Amino acid sequence: MQARGLCRAESRGMFLGYLEITGGIPLHGEIEVQGSKNAVLPILASCMLGEGACTIENCPSIGDVDDTLEILKLLGCRVEREGRTVCIDASSAGKNEIESMEAARIRSSVLFLGALLGRMKRAVLPLPGGCAIGRRPIDIHIKALEKLGACFAEDDKVVATARQLLGDTVVLPFPSVGATENTILAAATAHGITWIKNAAREPEIDELCEFLNCRGADIERTKNGDIRVCGVERLRGTTYRVKADRIVTGTYLLAAAATGGEILITNDNGSCLRAFLQVLEKMGAGVIRSPRGGKQEGIRISSPERLLGAGDLETAPYPGFPTDLQSPLMAVLCRASGKSCIREKIFENRFKTADELVKMGAEIEIDGDCARISGVPQLYGAVLEAPDLRGGAALVLGALQAKGCTKIGNIGYIDRGYENIERDLRLLGADIRRVDGNRDC
Ligand code: EPZ
Repeated sequence: MQARGLCRAESRGMFLGYLEITGGIPLHGEIEVQGSKNAVLPILASCMLGEGACTIENCPSIGDVDDTLEILKLLGCRVEREGRTVCIDASSAGKNEIESMEAARIRSSVLFLGALLGRMKRAVLPLPGGCAIGRRPIDIHIKALEKLGACFAEDDKVVATARQLLGDTVVLPFPSVGATENTILAAATAHGITWIKNAAREPEIDELCEFLNCRGADIERTKNGDIRVCGVERLRGTTYRVKADRIVTGTYLLAAAATGGEILITNDNGSCLRAFLQVLEKMGAGVIRSPRGGKQEGIRISSPERLLGAGDLETAPYPGFPTDLQSPLMAVLCRASGKSCIREKIFENRFKTADELVKMGAEIEIDGDCARISGVPQLYGAVLEAPDLRGGAALVLGALQAKGCTKIGNIGYIDRGYENIERDLRLLGADIRRVDGNRDC
Protein backbone atom coordinates (compact mmCIF):
# COMPACT_ATOMS: atom_id res chain seq x y z
CA MET A 1 0.00 0.00 0.00
CA GLN A 2 1.72 3.17 -1.06
CA ALA A 3 0.26 6.18 0.75
CA ARG A 4 0.28 9.40 -1.26
CA GLY A 5 -1.34 12.71 -0.58
CA LEU A 6 -0.33 16.07 0.78
CA CYS A 7 0.54 15.57 4.41
CA ARG A 8 2.99 17.05 6.83
CA ALA A 9 4.79 13.95 7.94
CA GLU A 10 5.17 12.56 4.46
CA SER A 11 6.45 15.88 3.14
CA ARG A 12 9.20 15.42 5.71
CA GLY A 13 9.92 11.92 4.41
CA MET A 14 7.86 10.08 7.05
CA PHE A 15 5.55 7.38 5.64
CA LEU A 16 2.19 7.47 7.40
CA GLY A 17 1.14 3.98 6.37
CA TYR A 18 -2.51 3.05 6.10
CA LEU A 19 -5.52 2.29 8.27
CA GLU A 20 -6.74 -1.30 8.54
CA ILE A 21 -10.35 -1.72 9.68
CA THR A 22 -12.49 -4.82 10.25
CA GLY A 23 -16.14 -3.77 10.17
CA GLY A 24 -19.40 -5.00 11.63
CA ILE A 25 -18.84 -4.00 15.27
CA PRO A 26 -21.51 -1.69 16.84
CA LEU A 27 -19.71 1.20 18.56
CA HIS A 28 -20.39 1.85 22.23
CA GLY A 29 -18.93 4.13 24.86
CA GLU A 30 -18.26 7.78 25.43
CA ILE A 31 -15.70 10.16 23.99
CA GLU A 32 -14.50 13.76 24.19
CA VAL A 33 -13.83 15.26 20.76
CA GLN A 34 -10.81 17.41 19.91
CA GLY A 35 -10.71 21.21 19.59
CA SER A 36 -12.08 22.70 16.39
CA LYS A 37 -9.73 22.76 13.39
CA ASN A 38 -11.73 25.44 11.58
CA ALA A 39 -11.89 27.64 14.66
CA VAL A 40 -8.25 27.33 15.71
CA LEU A 41 -6.70 27.98 12.28
CA PRO A 42 -7.97 31.58 11.93
CA ILE A 43 -7.27 32.14 15.65
CA LEU A 44 -3.64 31.08 15.17
CA ALA A 45 -3.24 33.33 12.10
CA SER A 46 -4.76 36.24 14.05
CA CYS A 47 -1.95 35.97 16.63
CA MET A 48 0.10 37.92 14.06
CA LEU A 49 -2.01 40.93 15.02
CA GLY A 50 -0.95 43.02 17.99
CA GLU A 51 1.62 42.45 20.69
CA GLY A 52 1.67 40.19 23.71
CA ALA A 53 1.68 36.41 23.99
CA CYS A 54 -1.44 34.37 23.27
CA THR A 55 -1.99 30.99 24.89
CA ILE A 56 -4.37 28.73 22.98
CA GLU A 57 -5.71 25.76 24.94
CA ASN A 58 -7.37 22.63 23.51
CA CYS A 59 -5.51 23.17 20.23
CA PRO A 60 -5.81 19.89 18.27
CA SER A 61 -2.63 18.05 17.19
CA ILE A 62 -3.44 17.90 13.49
CA GLY A 63 -1.55 18.47 10.26
CA ASP A 64 -3.08 21.81 9.41
CA VAL A 65 -2.16 23.16 12.86
CA ASP A 66 1.43 21.87 12.47
CA ASP A 67 1.73 23.68 9.14
CA THR A 68 0.16 26.90 10.48
CA LEU A 69 2.58 26.93 13.43
CA GLU A 70 5.47 26.46 10.97
CA ILE A 71 4.27 29.51 9.06
CA LEU A 72 4.08 31.56 12.28
CA LYS A 73 7.68 30.55 13.09
CA LEU A 74 8.81 31.49 9.56
CA LEU A 75 7.25 34.93 10.11
CA GLY A 76 9.41 35.36 13.21
CA CYS A 77 6.93 34.50 15.97
CA ARG A 78 8.01 32.69 19.11
CA VAL A 79 5.96 29.46 19.15
CA GLU A 80 5.89 27.02 22.07
CA ARG A 81 3.73 23.90 22.17
CA GLU A 82 3.07 21.46 24.96
CA GLY A 83 0.46 18.85 24.13
CA ARG A 84 -2.72 20.73 23.25
CA THR A 85 -1.51 24.08 24.61
CA VAL A 86 0.22 26.48 22.21
CA CYS A 87 1.81 29.81 23.13
CA ILE A 88 2.48 32.35 20.38
CA ASP A 89 4.26 35.71 20.74
CA ALA A 90 4.40 37.80 17.58
CA SER A 91 6.20 40.75 19.21
CA SER A 92 9.41 40.05 17.31
CA ALA A 93 7.76 38.96 14.06
CA GLY A 94 9.22 41.00 11.19
CA LYS A 95 8.50 39.08 8.01
CA ASN A 96 5.50 39.58 5.75
CA GLU A 97 6.33 37.06 3.05
CA ILE A 98 5.40 33.37 3.22
CA GLU A 99 7.21 31.23 0.66
CA SER A 100 6.97 27.93 2.50
CA MET A 101 5.61 24.65 1.22
CA GLU A 102 3.23 24.65 4.14
CA ALA A 103 1.41 27.72 2.88
CA ALA A 104 0.94 26.28 -0.59
CA ARG A 105 -0.49 23.13 0.90
CA ILE A 106 -3.22 24.25 3.24
CA ARG A 107 -6.21 26.44 2.48
CA SER A 108 -6.09 28.26 5.81
CA SER A 109 -2.73 29.86 4.84
CA VAL A 110 -4.87 32.45 3.00
CA LEU A 111 -5.94 33.73 6.42
CA PHE A 112 -2.47 35.21 6.87
CA LEU A 113 -3.49 37.69 4.19
CA GLY A 114 -5.76 39.68 6.51
CA ALA A 115 -3.48 39.25 9.53
CA LEU A 116 -0.30 40.38 7.71
CA LEU A 117 -2.07 43.32 6.08
CA GLY A 118 -3.41 44.29 9.49
CA ARG A 119 0.02 44.13 11.12
CA MET A 120 2.54 44.94 8.36
CA LYS A 121 0.41 46.53 5.63
CA ARG A 122 2.01 44.00 3.27
CA ALA A 123 1.47 40.30 2.60
CA VAL A 124 3.08 37.95 0.11
CA LEU A 125 2.03 34.32 0.06
CA PRO A 126 1.60 31.45 -2.39
CA LEU A 127 -1.85 30.88 -3.82
CA PRO A 128 -3.44 28.73 -1.09
CA GLY A 129 -3.65 24.94 -1.37
CA GLY A 130 -6.20 22.70 0.21
CA CYS A 131 -8.17 19.58 -0.67
CA ALA A 132 -8.95 19.01 -4.33
CA ILE A 133 -12.63 19.64 -3.58
CA GLY A 134 -12.86 22.58 -5.91
CA ARG A 135 -11.05 25.52 -7.55
CA ARG A 136 -11.21 27.49 -4.31
CA PRO A 137 -10.49 30.95 -5.72
CA ILE A 138 -9.95 33.94 -3.43
CA ASP A 139 -11.67 36.66 -5.50
CA ILE A 140 -14.13 37.42 -2.69
CA HIS A 141 -11.25 37.86 -0.23
CA ILE A 142 -9.45 40.23 -2.61
CA LYS A 143 -12.48 42.44 -3.32
CA ALA A 144 -13.29 42.72 0.37
CA LEU A 145 -9.72 43.69 1.33
CA GLU A 146 -9.48 46.16 -1.56
CA LYS A 147 -12.56 47.88 -0.10
CA LEU A 148 -10.53 48.48 3.08
CA GLY A 149 -7.62 49.97 1.12
CA ALA A 150 -5.47 46.99 0.08
CA CYS A 151 -3.87 46.85 -3.38
CA PHE A 152 -3.08 43.53 -5.11
CA ALA A 153 -0.31 43.08 -7.69
CA GLU A 154 -0.82 40.68 -10.63
CA ASP A 155 1.56 37.81 -9.89
CA ASP A 156 1.77 34.03 -9.68
CA LYS A 157 1.37 34.47 -5.95
CA VAL A 158 -0.67 36.76 -3.72
CA VAL A 159 1.01 40.17 -3.25
CA ALA A 160 -0.99 42.71 -1.22
CA THR A 161 -0.03 46.12 0.20
CA ALA A 162 -1.90 48.93 1.93
CA ARG A 163 -0.81 52.47 2.83
CA GLN A 164 -3.37 52.23 5.58
CA LEU A 165 -6.53 50.23 6.21
CA LEU A 166 -9.72 52.26 6.53
CA GLY A 167 -13.02 50.90 7.81
CA ASP A 168 -15.78 50.65 5.18
CA THR A 169 -18.88 48.62 4.28
CA VAL A 170 -18.05 45.27 2.65
CA VAL A 171 -20.86 43.32 0.98
CA LEU A 172 -19.87 39.70 0.32
CA PRO A 173 -21.48 38.27 -2.85
CA PHE A 174 -21.40 34.85 -1.12
CA PRO A 175 -21.06 34.20 2.63
CA SER A 176 -17.51 32.88 2.25
CA VAL A 177 -16.10 31.67 5.59
CA GLY A 178 -12.51 32.54 4.76
CA ALA A 179 -13.34 35.90 3.18
CA THR A 180 -15.38 36.86 6.26
CA GLU A 181 -12.46 35.89 8.50
CA ASN A 182 -9.89 37.76 6.41
CA THR A 183 -12.04 40.90 6.43
CA ILE A 184 -12.36 40.70 10.22
CA LEU A 185 -8.58 40.28 10.59
CA ALA A 186 -7.84 43.30 8.39
CA ALA A 187 -10.58 45.44 10.01
CA ALA A 188 -9.76 44.64 13.66
CA THR A 189 -7.00 47.28 13.85
CA ALA A 190 -8.03 49.43 10.85
CA HIS A 191 -9.04 53.10 11.25
CA GLY A 192 -12.79 53.42 11.66
CA ILE A 193 -15.75 51.05 11.49
CA THR A 194 -16.20 48.16 9.06
CA TRP A 195 -19.54 46.53 8.33
CA ILE A 196 -19.50 43.05 6.77
CA LYS A 197 -22.82 42.39 5.05
CA ASN A 198 -23.85 38.84 4.04
CA ALA A 199 -21.11 37.59 6.37
CA ALA A 200 -20.75 33.84 6.82
CA ARG A 201 -22.54 32.61 9.96
CA GLU A 202 -20.41 29.53 10.74
CA PRO A 203 -19.81 29.29 14.52
CA GLU A 204 -16.05 29.22 13.94
CA ILE A 205 -16.28 32.88 12.90
CA ASP A 206 -17.97 33.80 16.18
CA GLU A 207 -15.15 31.97 17.99
CA LEU A 208 -12.60 34.09 16.12
CA CYS A 209 -14.50 37.25 17.15
CA GLU A 210 -14.69 36.01 20.76
CA PHE A 211 -10.92 35.43 20.77
CA LEU A 212 -10.17 38.87 19.26
CA ASN A 213 -12.52 40.58 21.71
CA CYS A 214 -10.64 38.84 24.56
CA ARG A 215 -7.57 40.62 23.14
CA GLY A 216 -9.27 44.03 23.20
CA ALA A 217 -10.94 44.12 19.79
CA ASP A 218 -14.45 45.55 19.35
CA ILE A 219 -16.43 43.16 17.13
CA GLU A 220 -20.10 42.21 17.27
CA ARG A 221 -22.56 40.25 15.15
CA THR A 222 -25.93 41.96 14.74
CA LYS A 223 -29.26 40.14 14.82
CA ASN A 224 -29.44 39.94 11.02
CA GLY A 225 -26.01 38.24 10.87
CA ASP A 226 -23.97 41.26 9.74
CA ILE A 227 -20.66 41.85 11.51
CA ARG A 228 -19.57 45.27 12.83
CA VAL A 229 -15.85 45.77 13.50
CA CYS A 230 -14.75 48.96 15.24
CA GLY A 231 -10.99 49.22 14.62
CA VAL A 232 -8.84 49.54 17.77
CA GLU A 233 -5.29 50.80 18.26
CA ARG A 234 -3.79 47.58 19.51
CA LEU A 235 -4.51 44.04 20.65
CA ARG A 236 -3.04 42.47 23.78
CA GLY A 237 -2.19 38.87 24.60
CA THR A 238 -4.76 36.52 26.14
CA THR A 239 -5.49 32.91 27.02
CA TYR A 240 -8.29 31.18 25.12
CA ARG A 241 -9.71 27.64 25.07
CA VAL A 242 -10.89 26.34 21.69
CA LYS A 243 -14.36 24.78 21.61
CA ALA A 244 -15.13 21.22 20.43
CA ASP A 245 -14.88 20.44 16.72
CA ARG A 246 -18.47 20.11 15.51
CA ILE A 247 -17.41 18.28 12.32
CA VAL A 248 -15.52 15.66 14.33
CA THR A 249 -18.60 15.36 16.58
CA GLY A 250 -20.74 14.78 13.48
CA THR A 251 -18.26 12.25 12.12
CA TYR A 252 -18.29 10.16 15.31
CA LEU A 253 -22.08 10.36 15.64
CA LEU A 254 -22.28 8.98 12.10
CA ALA A 255 -19.82 6.22 13.04
CA ALA A 256 -22.15 5.09 15.83
CA ALA A 257 -25.23 5.41 13.62
CA ALA A 258 -23.58 3.46 10.79
CA THR A 259 -22.80 0.50 13.05
CA GLY A 260 -26.08 0.31 15.01
CA GLY A 261 -24.31 1.41 18.17
CA GLU A 262 -24.83 3.92 20.96
CA ILE A 263 -22.27 6.54 22.05
CA LEU A 264 -22.09 9.71 24.15
CA ILE A 265 -20.06 12.72 23.04
CA THR A 266 -19.19 14.33 26.38
CA ASN A 267 -18.05 17.82 25.40
CA ASP A 268 -20.36 18.97 22.61
CA ASN A 269 -24.15 19.18 22.86
CA GLY A 270 -24.63 19.56 19.12
CA SER A 271 -26.02 23.10 19.35
CA CYS A 272 -24.10 23.96 16.13
CA LEU A 273 -25.28 20.83 14.29
CA ARG A 274 -29.06 21.24 14.23
CA ALA A 275 -29.57 20.72 10.48
CA PHE A 276 -27.30 17.67 10.58
CA LEU A 277 -29.05 16.16 13.62
CA GLN A 278 -32.44 16.59 11.94
CA VAL A 279 -31.21 14.41 9.07
CA LEU A 280 -29.86 11.78 11.49
CA GLU A 281 -33.23 11.60 13.27
CA LYS A 282 -35.05 11.36 9.92
CA MET A 283 -32.81 8.34 9.21
CA GLY A 284 -34.07 6.64 12.37
CA ALA A 285 -31.32 7.45 14.86
CA GLY A 286 -32.26 8.54 18.40
CA VAL A 287 -30.52 11.74 19.51
CA ILE A 288 -30.59 13.15 23.05
CA ARG A 289 -28.89 16.48 23.70
CA SER A 290 -28.09 17.58 27.23
CA PRO A 291 -29.43 21.05 28.11
CA ARG A 292 -27.02 23.93 27.51
CA GLY A 293 -25.11 24.94 30.60
CA GLY A 294 -25.94 21.65 32.33
CA LYS A 295 -23.27 19.87 34.34
CA GLN A 296 -22.24 18.05 31.22
CA GLU A 297 -22.64 19.39 27.67
CA GLY A 298 -23.16 16.19 25.75
CA ILE A 299 -25.05 14.43 23.02
CA ARG A 300 -26.06 10.78 23.01
CA ILE A 301 -26.97 8.83 19.88
CA SER A 302 -28.52 5.38 19.57
CA SER A 303 -29.20 3.67 16.29
CA PRO A 304 -31.08 0.70 14.77
CA GLU A 305 -29.06 -2.01 13.02
CA ARG A 306 -29.99 -0.42 9.68
CA LEU A 307 -30.86 3.23 9.09
CA LEU A 308 -33.44 4.67 6.71
CA GLY A 309 -32.49 6.66 3.61
CA ALA A 310 -32.43 10.47 3.95
CA GLY A 311 -34.54 11.40 0.89
CA ASP A 312 -33.41 14.65 -0.73
CA LEU A 313 -31.02 17.05 1.02
CA GLU A 314 -28.53 19.71 0.04
CA THR A 315 -25.51 21.31 1.63
CA ALA A 316 -25.71 25.02 2.46
CA PRO A 317 -23.89 27.78 4.33
CA TYR A 318 -24.51 27.71 8.11
CA PRO A 319 -27.02 27.06 9.62
CA GLY A 320 -27.75 24.71 6.69
CA PHE A 321 -26.41 21.16 6.35
CA PRO A 322 -22.57 21.44 6.57
CA THR A 323 -20.66 20.55 3.42
CA ASP A 324 -17.92 19.04 5.61
CA LEU A 325 -20.29 16.26 6.69
CA GLN A 326 -21.53 15.54 3.17
CA SER A 327 -19.00 12.80 2.37
CA PRO A 328 -19.27 11.11 5.80
CA LEU A 329 -23.08 11.10 5.46
CA MET A 330 -22.83 9.65 1.95
CA ALA A 331 -20.85 6.71 3.30
CA VAL A 332 -23.53 5.97 5.90
CA LEU A 333 -26.40 6.31 3.39
CA CYS A 334 -24.75 3.62 1.23
CA ARG A 335 -26.04 0.94 3.63
CA ALA A 336 -29.29 2.66 4.67
CA SER A 337 -32.55 1.18 3.39
CA GLY A 338 -34.05 3.28 0.62
CA LYS A 339 -32.84 6.01 -1.67
CA SER A 340 -31.14 9.31 -0.88
CA CYS A 341 -30.06 12.26 -2.99
CA ILE A 342 -27.41 14.71 -1.78
CA ARG A 343 -26.93 17.98 -3.63
CA GLU A 344 -23.51 19.61 -2.97
CA LYS A 345 -24.06 23.34 -3.29
CA ILE A 346 -20.82 24.67 -1.77
CA PHE A 347 -17.91 23.00 -3.58
CA GLU A 348 -17.85 21.84 -7.18
CA ASN A 349 -15.81 18.68 -6.74
CA ARG A 350 -16.70 17.07 -3.45
CA PHE A 351 -18.04 13.69 -4.60
CA LYS A 352 -14.66 12.00 -5.14
CA THR A 353 -15.37 9.61 -2.28
CA ALA A 354 -18.14 7.97 -4.30
CA ASP A 355 -15.72 6.06 -6.56
CA GLU A 356 -14.02 4.55 -3.52
CA LEU A 357 -17.32 3.63 -1.83
CA VAL A 358 -18.45 1.89 -5.04
CA LYS A 359 -15.42 -0.41 -4.64
CA MET A 360 -17.10 -1.58 -1.37
CA GLY A 361 -20.34 -2.45 -3.19
CA ALA A 362 -22.12 0.89 -2.81
CA GLU A 363 -24.60 2.01 -5.47
CA ILE A 364 -24.01 5.72 -6.17
CA GLU A 365 -24.76 7.70 -9.31
CA ILE A 366 -23.23 11.17 -9.70
CA ASP A 367 -25.17 13.63 -11.83
CA GLY A 368 -23.66 17.14 -11.72
CA ASP A 369 -24.00 18.52 -8.20
CA CYS A 370 -26.18 15.58 -7.20
CA ALA A 371 -25.21 12.17 -5.73
CA ARG A 372 -28.01 9.58 -5.91
CA ILE A 373 -27.49 6.74 -3.43
CA SER A 374 -29.47 3.47 -3.41
CA GLY A 375 -28.86 1.78 -0.07
CA VAL A 376 -27.57 -1.81 -0.18
CA PRO A 377 -27.87 -4.32 2.70
CA GLN A 378 -24.13 -4.96 2.86
CA LEU A 379 -20.84 -3.24 2.06
CA TYR A 380 -17.62 -5.25 1.69
CA GLY A 381 -14.05 -4.55 2.73
CA ALA A 382 -11.75 -3.22 0.00
CA VAL A 383 -8.38 -1.50 -0.60
CA LEU A 384 -9.07 2.23 -0.85
CA GLU A 385 -7.32 5.61 -0.97
CA ALA A 386 -8.56 8.74 0.78
CA PRO A 387 -9.32 11.42 -1.87
CA ASP A 388 -9.33 14.34 0.61
CA LEU A 389 -9.77 15.10 4.31
CA ARG A 390 -13.50 14.49 4.83
CA GLY A 391 -13.61 11.92 2.05
CA GLY A 392 -11.01 9.94 3.99
CA ALA A 393 -13.13 10.07 7.12
CA ALA A 394 -16.07 8.89 5.01
CA LEU A 395 -14.13 5.80 3.90
CA VAL A 396 -13.45 4.98 7.56
CA LEU A 397 -17.22 5.09 8.17
CA GLY A 398 -17.77 2.85 5.16
CA ALA A 399 -15.21 0.37 6.51
CA LEU A 400 -16.75 0.33 10.00
CA GLN A 401 -20.02 -1.02 8.54
CA ALA A 402 -18.47 -3.32 5.93
CA LYS A 403 -18.12 -7.09 6.08
CA GLY A 404 -14.44 -7.99 6.24
CA CYS A 405 -11.26 -5.94 6.25
CA THR A 406 -10.65 -2.57 4.57
CA LYS A 407 -7.31 -0.81 4.02
CA ILE A 408 -7.26 2.96 3.50
CA GLY A 409 -4.16 4.77 2.15
CA ASN A 410 -3.46 8.51 1.78
CA ILE A 411 -4.23 8.88 5.45
CA GLY A 412 -2.15 12.05 5.59
CA TYR A 413 -5.32 13.74 4.39
CA ILE A 414 -7.28 12.40 7.39
CA ASP A 415 -4.50 13.46 9.79
CA ARG A 416 -4.90 17.05 8.57
CA GLY A 417 -8.19 17.34 10.46
CA TYR A 418 -8.55 14.36 12.83
CA GLU A 419 -6.10 14.22 15.74
CA ASN A 420 -5.98 10.42 15.96
CA ILE A 421 -9.00 8.83 14.34
CA GLU A 422 -7.88 5.27 15.08
CA ARG A 423 -7.34 6.05 18.78
CA ASP A 424 -10.79 7.62 19.12
CA LEU A 425 -12.67 4.88 17.28
CA ARG A 426 -10.79 2.11 19.12
CA LEU A 427 -11.96 3.76 22.35
CA LEU A 428 -15.51 3.15 21.08
CA GLY A 429 -14.82 -0.52 20.32
CA ALA A 430 -13.86 -0.38 16.63
CA ASP A 431 -11.33 -2.84 15.21
CA ILE A 432 -9.04 -0.26 13.59
CA ARG A 433 -5.29 0.19 13.51
CA ARG A 434 -2.61 2.19 11.70
CA VAL A 435 -0.15 -0.09 9.87
CA ASP A 436 3.52 0.81 9.05
CA GLY A 437 2.87 4.36 10.10
CA ASN A 438 4.86 6.55 12.42
CA ARG A 439 2.43 6.19 15.33
CA ASP A 440 2.31 3.12 17.51
CA CYS A 441 -0.59 1.10 16.20
C1 EPZ B 1 -13.89 26.88 5.12
O1 EPZ B 1 -13.25 26.86 3.86
C2 EPZ B 1 -13.47 25.59 5.82
N1 EPZ B 1 -12.03 25.57 5.99
C3 EPZ B 1 -13.92 24.39 4.98
O2 EPZ B 1 -13.58 23.21 5.73
C4 EPZ B 1 -15.43 24.45 4.82
O3 EPZ B 1 -15.84 23.38 3.99
C5 EPZ B 1 -15.83 25.78 4.18
O4 EPZ B 1 -15.32 26.88 4.97
C6 EPZ B 1 -17.34 25.93 4.06
O5 EPZ B 1 -17.92 25.82 5.31
C7 EPZ B 1 -11.47 26.26 7.01
O6 EPZ B 1 -12.15 26.91 7.79
C8 EPZ B 1 -9.98 26.17 7.16
P1 EPZ B 1 -15.54 29.32 1.68
P2 EPZ B 1 -13.23 28.20 2.94
O7 EPZ B 1 -14.65 30.48 1.43
O8 EPZ B 1 -13.07 29.38 3.78
C9 EPZ B 1 -16.11 29.72 -3.04
C10 EPZ B 1 -12.69 21.06 6.03
O9 EPZ B 1 -12.91 19.95 5.54
N2 EPZ B 1 -15.27 30.91 -2.92
O10 EPZ B 1 -16.78 29.50 2.47
O11 EPZ B 1 -12.26 27.97 1.84
C11 EPZ B 1 -15.29 28.46 -2.80
O12 EPZ B 1 -14.63 28.06 -3.99
C12 EPZ B 1 -12.62 22.29 5.15
O13 EPZ B 1 -12.50 21.27 7.26
C13 EPZ B 1 -15.08 31.71 -4.04
O14 EPZ B 1 -15.59 31.44 -5.13
O15 EPZ B 1 -14.71 28.14 2.35
C14 EPZ B 1 -16.32 27.47 -2.36
O16 EPZ B 1 -16.94 26.92 -3.50
C15 EPZ B 1 -12.91 21.97 3.69
N3 EPZ B 1 -14.28 32.81 -3.93
C16 EPZ B 1 -17.31 28.32 -1.58
O17 EPZ B 1 -17.09 29.68 -2.00
C17 EPZ B 1 -13.68 33.14 -2.74
O18 EPZ B 1 -12.98 34.18 -2.70
C18 EPZ B 1 -17.16 28.23 -0.06
O19 EPZ B 1 -15.87 28.67 0.25
C19 EPZ B 1 -13.89 32.32 -1.61
C20 EPZ B 1 -14.70 31.21 -1.71
